[in-house]
Amino acid sequence: MFNNIYKNKKVLVTGSTGFKGSWLTLWLQSLGADVLGYALLPDTEPSMYTELGLKHRINTIFANILDRDKLKKTFNDFSPDIVFHIAAQPLVLRSYDEPVLTYETNVIGTLNVLMAARQCDSVKAFVNVTTDKCYENKEVTTGYKEDDPMGGYDMYSSSKGCSEILSSSFRRSFLEDEKSFALATARAGNVIGGGDWARDRLIPDCIKAINNSIPIEIRNPAAVRPWQHVLEPLSGYLLLGQKLLEYGKLYAQAYNFGPIELSVLTVAEVAQKVVDNYGKGKVIVGEKKTFHEAGLLMLDITKAKEELGWTPALSADKAIKNTVDWYKKYYHKENMYDYTMQQIKEYEEFCGEKYA
Ligand SMILES: NC(=O)c1ccc[n+]([C@@H]2O[C@H](COP(=O)([O-])OP(=O)(O)OC[C@H]3O[C@@H](n4cnc5c(N)ncnc54)[C@H](O)[C@@H]3O)[C@@H](O)[C@H]2O)c1
Repeated sequence: MFNNIYKNKKVLVTGSTGFKGSWLTLWLQSLGADVLGYALLPDTEPSMYTELGLKHRINTIFANILDRDKLKKTFNDFSPDIVFHIAAQPLVLRSYDEPVLTYETNVIGTLNVLMAARQCDSVKAFVNVTTDKCYENKEVTTGYKEDDPMGGYDMYSSSKGCSEILSSSFRRSFLEDEKSFALATARAGNVIGGGDWARDRLIPDCIKAINNSIPIEIRNPAAVRPWQHVLEPLSGYLLLGQKLLEYGKLYAQAYNFGPIELSVLTVAEVAQKVVDNYGKGKVIVGEKKTFHEAGLLMLDITKAKEELGWTPALSADKAIKNTVDWYKKYYHKENMYDYTMQQIKEYEEFCGEKYA
């Protein structure tokens, strides 16, 4: 996979104890990379990091990306070839309660990681993970393209818009000479997959309700969202990282990694599909949420298709099935490290020669 580029490469992953970070570090390790994580302790109970025993499998520095000295030391001690910057405060609702923390983490934290990378000669490539919410949402149903304006209604979305603007400015200010690293940004939307226990996310909420034998209460049943399995954007990040390592600045740009168009389902449809796949549970409609929720936001993925050769592989149905299967095995107390690796291998097989 990925032209074998990750074999024996030193890869630093910030946010490695989170949902995406746990999947990404495992995948990188299985590709033969020497992985170092940099993150806070997991803040959900349970967490994928803990349940899979990743503290015994992935070397991790437990530190804050606001700690500039620690970052600098980590970069200099490890000398990474490539950085995947995933650490963030990623929750819209939390950003209403903690706007300063959200901006400190997502903007200043990102700048700190970039500065630490800049003073470290080994770094050749850097993928900054943002989100589809970085776009100024004009409430249109056509897909956003990479050169559409940044924006964001809530503090989370706008902090990620800032992270994009920061990356572009950093690239032009400090990374134009030949020796400096190639910096790209990756924009993906809502992802689902096993191992997510974050607050106020639909699938974790469904799974928690089913396992507590209470009805699944959905608040915006008709809201339409695109749904993508976590391995899909991760394959995009890894492919982008490969291209940066192979061709450098040619790919030092922003890329969208969105789902198959038909993966657009309502919240009610997804909740019902979770129940159908799980074989138990009941969906009820609760009181409507009072905070602002953006309408449907779609990404135009033409650029990633044409320039990187990336395409999403899994339908929404398959993504939901894989996700529910993961949680069912988890609650049946199966070996979740083995099963997660099995899902990664199956996904690789499903992609076939695409990223060979
Ligand atoms: N999950 C999604 O649906 C989704 C969608 C679009 C974009 N994203 C982006 O993907 C990335 C990962 O999201 P996730 O769902 O895995 O989040 P998560 O909350 O599961 O993980 C966040 C990670 O960042 C780390 N972190 C947070 N603050 C930190 C700090 N100050 N210093 C060091 N580490 C810190 C946490 O310890 C954790 O490892 C984020 O950048 C998020 O914005 C996620």
